[in-house]
Amino acid sequence: MVNNKKIIIGNWKMNLNVQESSLYLHQLSKIVKTHRDVEVVLSPTTLTLQSLSLQVNLRQFKLAAQNFYWRDQGSYTGEVSATQLRGIVQYGLVGHSERRHIFGESDKDIRSKVEAAVRNHIRPVLCIGETAWERSNGETYDILHDQLIGGFANITSEELSRVVVAYEPVWAVGTGQNALPTYVSAAVSAIRNQIEHLYGKKASESIQVIYGGSVTPDSAADYLALPGVDGLLIGGASLNAHSFNEIIKKAHRGSAVVE
Ligand code: PGA
Repeated sequence: MVNNKKIIIGNWKMNLNVQESSLYLHQLSKIVKTHRDVEVVLSPTTLTLQSLSLQVNLRQFKLAAQNFYWRDQGSYTGEVSATQLRGIVQYGLVGHSERRHIFGESDKDIRSKVEAAVRNHIRPVLCIGETAWERSNGETYDILHDQLIGGFANITSEELSRVVVAYEPVWAVGTGQNALPTYVSAAVSAIRNQIEHLYGKKASESIQVIYGGSVTPDSAADYLALPGVDGLLIGGASLNAHSFNEIIKKAHRGSAVVE
């Protein structure tokens, strides 16, 4: 059970080739201090997942797929399934704003991917968040509500304990425009309220909700200090092992070093 841990995920997006990814993992594993209260997850491109899975020490880091197809197998040229990723990754990002907005993923696609991940023993990280336009129209909470319902439509309360929600305002992702901690705090409370409405109080308290959007080593602690924020999803600042390590350091609260 990882529910009392902070989760720090590095989303490398379409950056770092096979050699660079391997070098990064080597560098980070040398400088990172592994703590029991922090789960560090690396999300490289699909191409490098297999080789990194052989290199990684799972006591130090877990791996996440950035994307996968929801069917288990078949004639789907160019796709990789959660079934194929099973045993290689422990987490899978689902519904990242770049998938929703650049690749046109629908709530139905996203819901099917959440289910596929759970079915294949991969923890889905459901990414939700409003665009700048939706925010300025006062629709933030409606969007969060719709994306939560859309993503979790077929997830039972038992399965919910295995999922993570990442709140990522679209206007803050990759823009350098990070959301104010008070704004994040209100959105995360709204997410927990909606989970309570759907699954009950216990589920709303135990589900892990993380924040992402232009987080840097300087801003990380402010978000991690917010009640109800269980970790961070880091894009740009995760591409350098040293800056990512600075963020990881902010996440542990003095627990014993594992090794
Ligand atoms: P960013 O990306 O930290 O570069 O804003 C976050 C994400 O895409 O998850």
